[in-house]
Amino acid sequence: MREIIAKIARRALVWLAWIAVISLIATGAVWALRPHAVGPKQPIPFSHLRHAGIREISCYFCHTGADRSPVAGVPELEKCLLCHEVIADRFDPIAKLHEARERNEPIEWVRVYDLPDHAYFNHEAHLLKGIDCAECHGDVKSMDRVILNQKLSMGFCVDCHRKPEHEASVDCWTCHR
Ligand code: HEC
Ligand code: HEC
Ligand code: HEC
Ligand code: HEC
Ligand code: HEC
Repeated sequence: MREIIAKIARRALVWLAWIAVISLIATGAVWALRPHAVGPKQPIPFSHLRHAGIREISCYFCHTGADRSPVAGVPELEKCLLCHEVIADRFDPIAKLHEARERNEPIEWVRVYDLPDHAYFNHEAHLLKGIDCAECHGDVKSMDRVILNQKLSMGFCVDCHRKPEHEASVDCWTCHR
């Protein structure tokens, strides 16, 4: 009787070990294949969710170039301080903004979207056609850190240019000039 119980216990242990190994591999796979849920770490933990989402500040308030020039532009420190001169001014990351101004240093934001030099893009042209930021950048206002929504490959650009409703040029020189 004892022997049988011991045998069953040993089997159970072997099974448990297998289950542990398999679930470890499965978790590893899920982790490796997960969507990139956070973007690059920034020098100041600026949150789009807080500003553009919860506080509903317009994208154009900060990215003033978007509908007027090729480049959307990232706001100057001074623009942050319009509010943060007083709002949350003792809070650690905000104190850093104040220090940066005292030292007269810009904030070195890490770029998320960056095309190679041989490809030309123009924000204004797209926004004047009524294309939403989200088509290319995803739902930024729901993000704490900006995520690379999709790799901006040539196929991504050309596929949309080819759509009949857009009739945008697919001549090479349009994007390589
Ligand atoms: C049709 C696609 C598309 C749309 C729509 C679009 N963007 Fe972009 N955005 C890009 C691409 C491509 C880049 C990278 C440009 C480069 O590296 O030259 C970029 C870069 C940026 C950058 C960083 C570089 C810069 O231009 O300052 C910001 C900020 C930005 N976009 C904000 C916005 C905002 C805000 C909107 C909506 C008001 C918007 N974008 C709409 C494709 C798009
Ligand atoms: C129009 C006003 C306004 C502007 C402009 C603004 N902020 Fe804010 N910010 C706020 C408010 C309000 C809060 C408080 C957040 C809350 O409680 O929802 C906040 C919170 C923050 C926080 C703390 C967030 C957290 O997660 O707790 C940081 C960091 C911050 N802002 C950085 C910036 C930076 C950097 C800029 C410039 C690019 C900027 N803000 C521009 C209004 C503004
Ligand atoms: C209060 C100012 C503020 C508002 C409002 C704001 N942004 Fe930004 N945005 C920033 C700052 C600062 C950065 C650079 C740091 C970062 O990437 O988080 C940035 C970065 C970005 C980038 C990444 C640029 C790159 O490096 O490639 C995109 C895309 C973007 N914003 C889109 C949007 C869109 C779309 C909205 C409206 C839904 C919006 N932003 C509203 C301040 C703002
Ligand atoms: C969601 C659809 C869409 C996507 C995605 C898109 N485009 Fe466009 N693009 C358009 C439309 C619409 C026009 C305007 C066509 C017109 O005015 O005749 C345009 C125009 C352009 C122009 C001409 C601008 C000018 O100065 O006249 C360039 C350059 C361009 N796109 C580059 C790109 C690049 C590079 C990408 C990828 C990073 C891209 N586009 C992604 C729809 C798109
Ligand atoms: C609507 C915009 C657009 C048009 C039109 C376009 N390209 Fe591109 N092309 C791009 C972008 C954006 C990249 C950069 C892709 C990346 O970084 O992965 C690129 C990259 C390339 C590259 C570099 C190879 C690579 O994979 O990075 C070559 C070569 C190229 N394009 C050739 C062409 C030729 C030839 C044509 C005309 C038949 C053309 N492209 C038309 C947007 C465009």
